[in-house]
Amino acid sequence: MINLKSDRELTLMRDAGRVVAEALEEVAKAVRPGITTGELNSLVEDLLQQRGARAAFKGYYGYPESICASVNHEIVHGIPGLKTLMDGDIISIDIGVEINGYYGDAAVTLPVGNIDEVSQKLIDVTARCLEAGIEQCQKGKRLTDISFAIQDNAESAGFSVVKEYVGHGIGRAMHEDPQVPNFGRPGRGLRLSPGLVLAIEPMINVGGSWTEVLADNWTVVTKDRTRSAHFEHTVAVTECGPEVLTRR
Ligand code: CO
Repeated sequence: MINLKSDRELTLMRDAGRVVAEALEEVAKAVRPGITTGELNSLVEDLLQQRGARAAFKGYYGYPESICASVNHEIVHGIPGLKTLMDGDIISIDIGVEINGYYGDAAVTLPVGNIDEVSQKLIDVTARCLEAGIEQCQKGKRLTDISFAIQDNAESAGFSVVKEYVGHGIGRAMHEDPQVPNFGRPGRGLRLSPGLVLAIEPMINVGGSWTEVLADNWTVVTKDRTRSAHFEHTVAVTECGPEVLTRR
């Protein structure tokens, strides 16, 4: 668990976060029918190289690529490759970087061309879940205030929350304590204090919450093959409220 001790450390976390934000912004511009997920991965690799950043996912427990690209019923950890995006798809892109020993991690779900109404609602609600979670990142609040805010937003909209995968502390490692579940009763767990940095990442499904992992040992999909969305930001708790390090 990181506890930012100096302005210098906060500056380094901001640097890592800024590059993640830039990479997501650039790759988002390239998302369209006809492009492959592997091409999106290459584009991000080029940008990270230019910025002197290391792709944090590559080689992590043997993960083979620099981004995760999860399409439609894929929830997270989709491996980019030859898959061509089609009009009507939704794609979740997740990027993690390390610069000078500090990490940033963020994800967005984007429409490919024209998408159906339910998919658009799923994207809107999941983005709102993340914003509701971020709002709870205040000094004096408790960890599960974040969890509850996310679950409440998702379920009020008729969607379900993925429970097997969670957000996490982030700092000098990509995954630090504490785990940040996207569900649960409020008012429990760690009391939030300035210096704590969390990666908050709701994964929300149109249908049931159950997941399974494909034969590639990475791609997590919904058991019922309904669509799923994923948004993530790296957020620092400060004296003056949440600071979203991966937002431009
Ligand atoms: Co993460």
